[in-house]
Amino acid sequence: MLAVVAIVAALAGSSVASTLSSFGVTPLDRALSPDLTSSCGTSGTLSCGNSSSVSNLCCFEAPGGLLLQTQFWDTSPSTGPSDSWTIHGLWPDNCDTTFTENCDPSRAYTGISSLLTAQGASSTLTFMQTFWKDINGNDETFWEHEWSTHGTCMSTLKTSCLPSGSAKGAEAVAFFQTVVKLFQSLPTYTWLANQGITPSATTTHTLASLTAAIKAESGFTPSFDCSGSNLNAVAYYFHLRGSIIDGAFQQITAPESGTCPTTGIKYPLKTGSTTGGGGGGGTTGLPAKATIHASSTGGLLSAGTWSTQTLATYTITGTATSFTMTSSKGNCGVSGGTFTCGSGVTLTSFSAVTSGSLLLLASGGSTAWTSDGVPSGTTVFPVFTGSGRANDYTLSIIST
Ligand SMILES: *[C@@H]1O[C@H](CO)[C@@H](O)[C@H](O)[C@H]1NC(C)=O
Repeated sequence: MLAVVAIVAALAGSSVASTLSSFGVTPLDRALSPDLTSSCGTSGTLSCGNSSSVSNLCCFEAPGGLLLQTQFWDTSPSTGPSDSWTIHGLWPDNCDTTFTENCDPSRAYTGISSLLTAQGASSTLTFMQTFWKDINGNDETFWEHEWSTHGTCMSTLKTSCLPSGSAKGAEAVAFFQTVVKLFQSLPTYTWLANQGITPSATTTHTLASLTAAIKAESGFTPSFDCSGSNLNAVAYYFHLRGSIIDGAFQQITAPESGTCPTTGIKYPLKTGSTTGGGGGGGTTGLPAKATIHASSTGGLLSAGTWSTQTLATYTITGTATSFTMTSSKGNCGVSGGTFTCGSGVTLTSFSAVTSGSLLLLASGGSTAWTSDGVPSGTTVFPVFTGSGRANDYTLSIIST
């Protein structure tokens, strides 16, 4: 936890770091719900590092002790911010790189969003809504698949390993929290950009140069996958001391290579995403469809209220200096200082203000928004312009 915070702080000033920190996971989740802990600590035997059989598989990940944090660079269609790779998952491979999947259908939970919200992990959910994207838009189904296919194979997340009295699904909540934290420590876009490698429609790269760039930044070689000659995915490899819940991940050099050719690799531009500009890779503009995220937690529902539930998609028409918005509820507008969307609402004009890597929603030129409380679970709050109520925040427009 502290390590992740330190990593984000160390990257301050880079565009991805500012994006990540504004969706920071840890403080709020901890405030809402005590951390699930394993009592395993982080000093046990490194997974895949044992010379004799280990019996307590609650504190020693086996047989899937080779852990892969996989990320996508989706450009056709584009998913996620234009200056960040997105999460694919965390996979427990066997030490020899073979693997098993779908290990416990009885724990193939559905409704991951509700599970995370109910168990105090709504800021993890908010982060996932931006950075853990399904290419067809079915994020919830994708999250369910990643948990049931891979998470249920993790020995340290077996229900019998949890503290007695743990809520149903608590191990899946821990899985998503761990994946998000690990991903936040692996900022592929920033690492490549720091080494002068940014998306381009024309430039080609060798596999060796991409690999060397990540090694220079992180100390270890990942594996890269391509779709044809287009860079499409990366996998970072780890061994683990302790439990997936709260163990220590030790990065290792990739023990296998991915599917990219050795030369002529393109790192294509994402289109339609807007947080960018960072490293010259992004396209700064206004998305046609977006979710609206509050700087502290959660974001806007279709009625325009502030919530930590699944965010609404807003349709945006116009330019950054003047646009209107609609949601599934109807027109959106500010009237008497209150932001609402609905069938009887009169459209009002908004503008977008670039702040670092973020695109902030402004009304009357001001990016200040305020509410009387902080949402949680099914409790939502009306959104007002200006500041001065109990909770002030900004709202960022994130392309969907
Ligand atoms: C390491 O421990 C696992 C789990 O007990 C066991 O299956 C595996 O054979 C052990 N490896 C060695 C080299 O003893």
